[in-house]
Amino acid sequence: MSMEFLSNKPLLITDTILRDAHQSQAATRMTIEDMMPALEVLDSIGYYSLECWGGATFDACMRFLNEDPWVRLRTLRKGLPNTKLQMLFRGQNILGYKHYADDVVDAFCRKSIENGIDIIRIFDALNDVRNLEQAIKSTKKYGGQVEATLSYTISPIHNEAHFVKLAKELEQMGADAICIKDMANLLLPMDAYSLVKALKETVSVPIHLHTHNTTGTGDMVLLMAAYAGVDIVDTALSPLANGTSQPATESLVATLKGTPRDTGLDLDKMSDAAVHFRKVAQRLTDAGNLNPKVLSVDTNTLRYQVPGGMLSNLISQLKEAKKEDKYYDVLAEIPRVRKDFGYPPLVTPSSQIVGTQAVMNIIMGERYKVFPKESKAMLRGEYGSLPGEVNNEVRAKAGIAPEDVITCRPADLLEPELEKYKEEFKDIARSEEDVLSLALFPQVAPKFIDKRDHPEKYAEAEKPAAAPAKTADPNAVRELYVECKVL
Ligand code: CO
Repeated sequence: MSMEFLSNKPLLITDTILRDAHQSQAATRMTIEDMMPALEVLDSIGYYSLECWGGATFDACMRFLNEDPWVRLRTLRKGLPNTKLQMLFRGQNILGYKHYADDVVDAFCRKSIENGIDIIRIFDALNDVRNLEQAIKSTKKYGGQVEATLSYTISPIHNEAHFVKLAKELEQMGADAICIKDMANLLLPMDAYSLVKALKETVSVPIHLHTHNTTGTGDMVLLMAAYAGVDIVDTALSPLANGTSQPATESLVATLKGTPRDTGLDLDKMSDAAVHFRKVAQRLTDAGNLNPKVLSVDTNTLRYQVPGGMLSNLISQLKEAKKEDKYYDVLAEIPRVRKDFGYPPLVTPSSQIVGTQAVMNIIMGERYKVFPKESKAMLRGEYGSLPGEVNNEVRAKAGIAPEDVITCRPADLLEPELEKYKEEFKDIARSEEDVLSLALFPQVAPKFIDKRDHPEKYAEAEKPAAAPAKTADPNAVRELYVECKVL
């Protein structure tokens, strides 16, 4: 064995089984009941952290699962007393799809930490660091750990030097660790080695790597990163690993056994946890939430740069529109839209915006006949500055003149909002947590909270009409509350 490890420290593992694994493979439908029986064994494994909250889980809890996301977090905190809990946080968007004022970002960080979060992974879809400023400041203020994130992508302007410079900037802003977020599994193994090595030579805080296995290179990426000295990596327990999800935890732990980077984690305990999550994966498959299509290696992603979550949403959106035959047309349109929009990395919300625009361009039969309002907002600079040059013709078609483009930190244009939200929702919110749920998801939270607090109003509607044996299935009841799909 001639290849040398550039670090001799045990590789630390964050398991994503409670968040990204089911978000990527099963439309975020894992419930707290699915998780609870496994918490004790998960807590005993010795993970660096468990990613368990944020991302799409918050929305999905209320929209599809009739679950209070804050109660979920407190339940996880109670069941996982020895393991750090980690969440994913979209900078100034928090968990929503628009920019919030600084005081809302601050309150959300405070409440997340109060309710049990230890580590907040903060990213911005455009890598505009001004969108991370407030969340970094607030997380530190309330005693949380900041993982400031590079949203990894490939484009004529996104090269290694670009990301190293960005990492340095984030370290100077107070990051406790730097995360490379390779949401679409575009980072190739040799590039991962080179990037991690360069980052280790430039910044002194730990480097945490997040990738997926969409294109089939995830395990190799993690191994090469381990060689280059990465400190922490994300993996998922095998029952919900691979495909659009993370590489399997057990495989990497076994691979590194006896090497200088041995994780020291107990494979037997993981196997116990996996027995449970295999049942959960089966339930999700039976409920129609886990489409086997997301499990196969898709090398098209290397061409189209489409993240896993976006792929599964795209499939279900086209299915609903009965336009499944347009799948590959839409995939081919995505990179063209991305170029016109100045090469944003494809991650929420830019992945949804570019994806929706591409769907429109194809379904309407004419490019840029229609601009959803989010597309216009992005072209106007409301999400931050776009990394590359925007196609001015497209911007003009959207009705945006050059002088209308925002150049300051977008949140500087927002007045404090928290008091306004408290007033607006004073009749339905029972807590500050409720106010935040309502502020972030005004389309979903009011109905959820009303149902939570007044179940009697809904009892009649939920009564099984016929075939009682079938409707007793809690999933069937949940489906009643499906409102719309988020692309
Ligand atoms: Co991910």
